[in-house]
Amino acid sequence: MILSNDDKCWCKSGLKYNECHLDFDKKLQVLKKQCCTVPKRKLIKNKEQIEGIRRSAEINNGILDLVSETIKAGMTTEDINTLAHEYTISRGGIPATLNYEGFPKSLCTSINDEVCHGIPSKDVILKNGDIINVDVTTILNGYYSDASRMFMIGEVSDEARKLVEITKECLNKGLEAVKPWGFLGDIGAAIQEYAQSNGYSVVRDFGGHGVGLQIHEDPFVSHCGTKGTDMILAPGMVFTIEPMINVGSSKIFIDEDNGWTAYTADGALSAQWENTILVTEDGIEIISK
Ligand code: MF3
Ligand code: CO
Ligand code: CO
Repeated sequence: MILSNDDKCWCKSGLKYNECHLDFDKKLQVLKKQCCTVPKRKLIKNKEQIEGIRRSAEINNGILDLVSETIKAGMTTEDINTLAHEYTISRGGIPATLNYEGFPKSLCTSINDEVCHGIPSKDVILKNGDIINVDVTTILNGYYSDASRMFMIGEVSDEARKLVEITKECLNKGLEAVKPWGFLGDIGAAIQEYAQSNGYSVVRDFGGHGVGLQIHEDPFVSHCGTKGTDMILAPGMVFTIEPMINVGSSKIFIDEDNGWTAYTADGALSAQWENTILVTEDGIEIISK
């Protein structure tokens, strides 16, 4: 599609092309000529979409704040699910994971050796020493936001605490690696280098993802990678960074009974933190955390 200066921009902002994404397109064209992979237009969000994702994230962040105030030994993961579900519905949102490809609950709760996609249950009671990831995805007015945090229940082992802290730092290293007009591969490279230098391994079977108009959009955000490779990160892209870091081997297996929950193959601990971010003209905005 070739647009003239006075045409309406392809991003549906309603603005004229030359007052909107003309310079952006010129920049991408130069990079494309240098053989860089550039994002498709559908991955670039306009102001209205970004505002919609921000409002969805207000609910998503509110749920994680509520969980952080409430979570303790003796609660079941079903209790956490109920809390989040009711909070979401009361604010006009929809829990995105509920019935997503058959997932039965309103969030994921992954404990100790569970890597991700743990299913809340009234039979799973939190106990002293557990580490748990609570992963929440919210839809509001068709806009999606996605984030997860780790919680330490009571007194946890030094090994568990260190894993939780280093994994959070892995997410921070990933966030710091995001530069407008930089490379997607810089994110995985930064995370992998930090995790491995602490003796940990990085899960490869799952990654971050574009998000906003759907739960999972392109690109796949690997938490391993090589600097200066993969897709160009352009302003307007919204995606998650969500490293899953293991104390032992990076190998995982999926629960055969429920078809969802991923566990570490060696039974060692795993942790994860997730943010949804926007690439801006001069850096990033953390939208959900
Ligand atoms: N929130 C998860 C993510 O970070 C998606 C969970 S999908 C589910 O991508 F079906 F497992 F809930
Ligand atoms: Co998530
Ligand atoms: Co995600």
